[in-house]
Amino acid sequence: MLSIKEVHCAYADTVILRDVNIEVGKGQVVSLMGRNGVGKTTLLKTIMGILKPFKGSIYFNDEDITTLSSEIRALKGIGYVPQGRDIFPHLTVMENLLIGLEARGIKNPSIPEGIFELFPALRDLLQRRGGDLSGGQQQQLAIARVLITEPKLLLLDEPTEGIQPSVVFEIENTIRFIKEQGNVSVLLVEQFMEFALRLSDYCYVMEKGTVVFEGAVNELDREELQSHLAI
Ligand SMILES: Nc1ncnc2c1ncn2[C@@H]1O[C@H](COP(=O)(O)OP(=O)(O)O)[C@@H](O)[C@H]1O
Ligand SMILES: [Mg+2]
Repeated sequence: MLSIKEVHCAYADTVILRDVNIEVGKGQVVSLMGRNGVGKTTLLKTIMGILKPFKGSIYFNDEDITTLSSEIRALKGIGYVPQGRDIFPHLTVMENLLIGLEARGIKNPSIPEGIFELFPALRDLLQRRGGDLSGGQQQQLAIARVLITEPKLLLLDEPTEGIQPSVVFEIENTIRFIKEQGNVSVLLVEQFMEFALRLSDYCYVMEKGTVVFEGAVNELDREELQSHLAI
C-alpha cells in the first residue's frame, strides 16, 4: 500500500533522511521507532508531502505520489495525526470533528455515527472546547478528526506522548480496533517499545536518518531492537 524507496530529505542544506526504505501493507500496523531526533517526524512529513525528498520515491497503492501536494495525498487516502495533536483549542469537539470534512469540500457535513463506536467518550464531550479536554481525550479527538475523512492509511506520530500512563491503554484499544476493522493501514511512530510491539505486525528502527533494524514482530530479536532504542 505504501512504499518508500531510497528516500533522502533535507531541511535547507541539512540532510536529515538518507536512503530510507519502508513498506506498509494493506491492513497492517507497522511501527517506526527510534530515539529523539533520528528523523521519524521528518519521514511522516515527507510521506504527507509537507516536505519533498531530494532523492527517492514514495508510492501509494502503486502510484508514484512523490511530487503530489499534501492536499491531493489526503484526498487519495493518507491521513496524518501530527505529533502534539494539533487540535483547535478554542473550537468545540464537534467543530474540531467537522472541520476535517469541511476541508475536503463537503458542504453541511455531519458526523458519521460509526465514529462514536470507536470513540464513545467523545459523544458526551461534543460541546466542550478542545482545549478543555485531557491529553488523552485530545489525542482521541485528533485521531477521530482524521478517521472521519475515511483514510486508507493513517500516520500516527507518537500518540502516547505526554499522556498519563493510566489512559495509554485507551489509545492502544483505539489502534487495535482500527486494526481489527481491517480497512485502514497504520504507520505508527512510537517511543514505547512494548506499546508499539503489542500493536504491530512489522517494525522499523531508525538511527541518524536511516533504517538500521527491521523485522516481523513475532520473530524479532528484542534485545537487538532494545539496543537501538536505549540511550
Ligand atoms: N524545521 C526544521 N528545520 C531544521 N531542522 C529540523 C527541523 N525539524 C527537525 N529538524 C531536525 O531534524 C532532525 C530530525 O528531527 P525529527 O524528524 O523531528 O526527529 P524525531 O521525530 O525522530 O524526534 C533533528 O536533528 C531535528 O533537529
Ligand atoms: Mg518526532
